[in-house]
This record gives sequence, C-alpha cells and structure tokens, in this order.
Amino acid sequence: MKLCLESVYPFITEDKINAMAANAAECNELLENGKGKGNDFLGWVNLPSQVSSELVEDIKATAAKLQSLCEVVVVIGIGGSYLGAKAVNDALSNSFDLLKKDRKAPVVLYAGQNIGEDYLSELLETLEDKSFGLINISKSGTTTEPAIAFRLLKKALEDKVGKEGAKERIVAVTDASRGALRTLADQEGYKTFIIPDNVGGRFSVLTPVGLLPIAVAGFDIATLLRGAADMEKATGTDTAFENNLSAKYAAARNALYRSGKKIEILVNYHPKLHYFGEWWKQLYGESEGKDGKGIFPAAVDFSTDLHSMGQWIQEGERTIFETVISVEKPSRSLAIPTDAADLDGLNFLAGKGIDEVNKMAELGTRLAHVDGGVPNMKVSIEKVDEYNLGQMIYFFERACGISGYMLEVNPFDQPGVEAYKKNMFALLEKPGYEEATKAIKARI
Ligand code: PA5
Repeated sequence: MKLCLESVYPFITEDKINAMAANAAECNELLENGKGKGNDFLGWVNLPSQVSSELVEDIKATAAKLQSLCEVVVVIGIGGSYLGAKAVNDALSNSFDLLKKDRKAPVVLYAGQNIGEDYLSELLETLEDKSFGLINISKSGTTTEPAIAFRLLKKALEDKVGKEGAKERIVAVTDASRGALRTLADQEGYKTFIIPDNVGGRFSVLTPVGLLPIAVAGFDIATLLRGAADMEKATGTDTAFENNLSAKYAAARNALYRSGKKIEILVNYHPKLHYFGEWWKQLYGESEGKDGKGIFPAAVDFSTDLHSMGQWIQEGERTIFETVISVEKPSRSLAIPTDAADLDGLNFLAGKGIDEVNKMAELGTRLAHVDGGVPNMKVSIEKVDEYNLGQMIYFFERACGISGYMLEVNPFDQPGVEAYKKNMFALLEKPGYEEATKAIKARI
C-alpha cells in the first residue's frame, strides 16, 4: 500500500505536514502505551498479530457448517456490527453474485441495519422458499434495530426448521457475559463468538464480527488478517514518520482541517468499494465528530458521482479535500471493441482496456480538482483482494486513532449516538421512560 501526498502540497507544504510529525508520533505512542483517552478500547491495536489460530479455525469450521446447511445466511447487525463485513464481502464478491447459479458459498444478506418495514417484509418473503441461517451480531446485545430483525427472523427460521434445526443455523456474536443476546444465546444453546470487551464496534471488523460473515461468504480470513498484521507492524511506533503511512495520513488530514478544510471525501473508482466508504465514514465520523469538532466524512463513487456531485466538488465552497482509493490493477481484463459505424466517435479507444479509461478519468479528475482548490491524497493498493483490504482496514483504523488524539478528542466513545435512542424510546413509551415521554410529548 502507498500513500501519496503530492497533490496536497500545493495547499499545505510538505514542511507544514512534517512539522506535525512529533505530535503524530506522540499520539501513535498513546495507542501503544494506553495512556490516552478511551484507553479501555484499545484492544484493536494489536489484534491482527494476536488473533489465535484456534479462533480462526473455529470461525472457518462454523462458516463451513453454515455453508453446508444454508443457501442464504442473513447477517444481523448495525453500525460497527455490520459495516466491516459488508465492506469486505462487497469488495471481494462478483458484483452480480446474487444472480449466479454456480455459487460456492451461500448468498449473504443483511438485516438489522434499518427499521424498514418493507425491507424486513421483503426479506422474510424472499426467505420463505430458501434454506437459511442467521448470524446475529451485537456487542451490547440490546440494540433495537438488530433485536427487532432477529425476533422476526428467528421466528421464521423456527417455523421452517423447528427449534432444534434453528439452533444449528443460528450463531451469535456478542459480549462474553453481558447483554440480552448473551443471555438468549446461552439459554437457547447457540454457537457463540465473543467480541472482546476492549474493542469498540467500529474497530471490530477483524474480530468474529467481521471474520465470520466474511468466511461464510467464502473469503480467506487468514490472508485478510495477514495484511492487517503487516500494516500493524508498518504503522507501529518503531516506524519513523516519513515511512509511517497512518501517522502521515493523520498528520495531513489534521493539517488540512486546521487550514479550514472541514470535509473529507473518500473517493473510489470501483463500485465494489462503495461499502468500504460506508465503513470508513462510520470509523471516522463516530471517532472524531464530538466536542464541537471533527472533519465531516463523506464518500463518493467515481466516475458515477462525478455526474452528480462533481459540480459541487469542482466549484462549491472550498472547504473540502479528498482521499482517493486507487486500485493499481483490476482483477479482470476487458477491452473496448471497435464499432464499424463509430457513431459515438469512440473508435479512438478501441482495443484499450476499460481500466485504462478509468485511470485517465482518475488522473484527469485529480488534476481538475487540484486546479479547483481541492487538496488530494491518494491511497494506492495493488488490487482488491483479502491481503490489500486487510492492509487498508488497519491503515485507516490506526490513522483514525492517531488522528482522533491529534484532534484531542476521545476517538473510542460515541456518546452522541444515545440522543436519538432516548427520544425514540420516550416516543414509543418504553417502560422506565415515563418522565422522558411526558417531556417529549410536550414538545411535539
Ligand atoms: O461503533 C459502534 O460502537 C457502534 O456503531 C455499534 O457498533 C453499533 O451501534 C451497534 O452496536 P451493538 O453491536 O452493541 O449492537
């Protein structure tokens, strides 16, 4: 993986970014020595190098069992209990996977990430004639969205295969001892995996939260972890600032923020990476957006969104910078054909690979955006595979920890997420919320 800051230097000089090296190193050190804010949630820092082979084998065996029993596996979870698995599975899957007949792994669907009545009804209807299993993921075990989805899906599964059959097809990923999901899983005898206490949701993709759904979809979790472990080593405190990609990225984005660039747009040029952007948005949004501070993380899919957001990015308020995920090699090759009539005038492209055109769109966009006042960072990976995704996941996690500390916030809590829940429960008249219900009813 490489990080290129060349197109940032017209806006913030290399010297200015290098001047933040000492601060970035101090903040990186806090992640290792556990003396910073939120230090009870640092379990992710050395996770890739410490995951035991027994756990990996247990996850693989559980995935194989679900694969043998199910055409469809529904992963139930929200936020950090959903986005990492979805990001990796989408990135590695054939884009038209759902229509493929010669599947080697079950179709993986997702629920509990919304409260859409239509979504859940349509899912239940779709599952009526399918053999299916469930992976229910919730660290707290009490989150409303996945709990509602699990109620519905558990009932549908028990109605189809009976309680014993359902027990074979349900796996819970939750806290070791606390929460409603732990109690239920123990009562029902489900296979369970533990989310370590010291790993928060948005940093949990390399625990069973992400690893189990990724293994079920047929991908190589050992290689994903190896990529992450290599990046863990490369971004540690032993690596000097000039070679430490996470420290450099954290320093550059903080320098840009201090210069008035309040919005960061994560750009991809491959539709398969759409959910990688969603995962990244949660990672940075929940980690940094607090105490009245924080870069607003947005994500776009280019060139698709150049035809919707391109105008704003080129000429709107100059408060943005962009970070581009650049993939050096596509996994497939496809050339543009010659057309005898050439009515679209594209014969000059005949014989060129589609990716060559995509790369010129990428380069042309970078130059145009820099001309338009948008600083641009580039994160390059060789290809979209397990190893490179593992590297990128850890790179962004480590940089997020460093960056949050540079911003002087606690990057590992999310107190603001509770506000909507409190209001929703008050509005739904949850027992114990009587006072809040009275207060909120007076406002509406
Ligand atoms: O990052 C976080 O902590 C959150 O996004 C949680 O992952 C999300 O709210 C889901 O929580 P839980 O796993 O407890 O159901």
